[in-house]
Amino acid sequence: MAGLIDQIEPLKQAALAEFNAAPDLAALEQAKGKWIGAQGRFTALMKQLGTLPKEEKPAAGKAINAAKVELEAALAERRGDLELKASLPKEPTDFTLPGRRRVLGKLHPLTQVTEDIVRSFRKIGFVVADGPEVEDEYYCFDALNTPADHPARDTQDTFYLQTLTRPDGHRLPSDVRGAGGESHPLLLRTHTSSVQIRVMEKQPPPIRIIVPGRVYRRDNADATHNPTFHQIEGLYVDKGVTVGDLKGTVEFVFREVLGEDVKIRFRPHYFSYTEPSYEIDFTNALVKKMGKDWLEIAGCGMVHPLVFENVGYDPEVWTGWAFGFGIERIAMLRYGINDIRLFYENDVRFLKQF
Ligand code: DAH
Repeated sequence: MAGLIDQIEPLKQAALAEFNAAPDLAALEQAKGKWIGAQGRFTALMKQLGTLPKEEKPAAGKAINAAKVELEAALAERRGDLELKASLPKEPTDFTLPGRRRVLGKLHPLTQVTEDIVRSFRKIGFVVADGPEVEDEYYCFDALNTPADHPARDTQDTFYLQTLTRPDGHRLPSDVRGAGGESHPLLLRTHTSSVQIRVMEKQPPPIRIIVPGRVYRRDNADATHNPTFHQIEGLYVDKGVTVGDLKGTVEFVFREVLGEDVKIRFRPHYFSYTEPSYEIDFTNALVKKMGKDWLEIAGCGMVHPLVFENVGYDPEVWTGWAFGFGIERIAMLRYGINDIRLFYENDVRFLKQF
């Protein structure tokens, strides 16, 4: 038998050859076992080291260790190559194929219009406020000075809920409002005006808010109505606020959103939470093209003293205005859309155009 030291190199070469020839990871593991596993041939050689005469041991030990290091490095490298190979596609790649394009989504036109309106109001110092869609009669009507016999409160016009507690289990403060412990029926808010009360209850003046949000009415869907739609409410409270401020603000925002040729006019109207109250009519080239002189677009007015009293503001000190308008109406004007239902159908062919 050749000396131990002379067997190292040929064994190593044979092991290396087998590692490098392994066609896949399973074969490589097998080769590893055969050579450097517990019962492996190279391992057996290492075990013989003990039988050598003392003076031969250092040289043989050194050579064996070097070979082992080399084998393990080769094993790791081959394993890396085979792992990479296993992760690559089995079929060849055709680099001449066109790439797969990701379809980019878009914001819904109602969202785009809402964001534009909000952006305009932000420029003049308004902030966005929010309130619940499941509201109670106090915030939706009573606190806004809307009497019990007002048609908006009729079950024919409004969605009432059977429960007095909100679905999330949270009891509204007004559920337990009143010394008599009377509660206020819950409903889906019919307008965003309820948020005026919620904000004023929570903070002292001055106030400059806008409230975009979803509202609900018991309407049948047609080209201009939908039981769910969107409004933006505005509220400004400070000392010495005038109708002039209201008109200037509304004009500024409408021009930003719908173009410089926009004209607006205020027409006397009635809302229970404002006095005096107005409806805002609007016109531009598009309205003329529709064969009309003016389009009614929003309600507004100076905040009623009783509303201030309901939230604990002194009406002798504070003044303010409020307005509310429908976002769909603005979007329809802006894009020339003639049927409100298109907004809710989620037909991609429609949505892609904005
Ligand atoms: N809440 C009214 C509606 O839904 C709109 C409105 C009118 C809001 C006058 C106001 C206002 O804040 O002052 O038709």
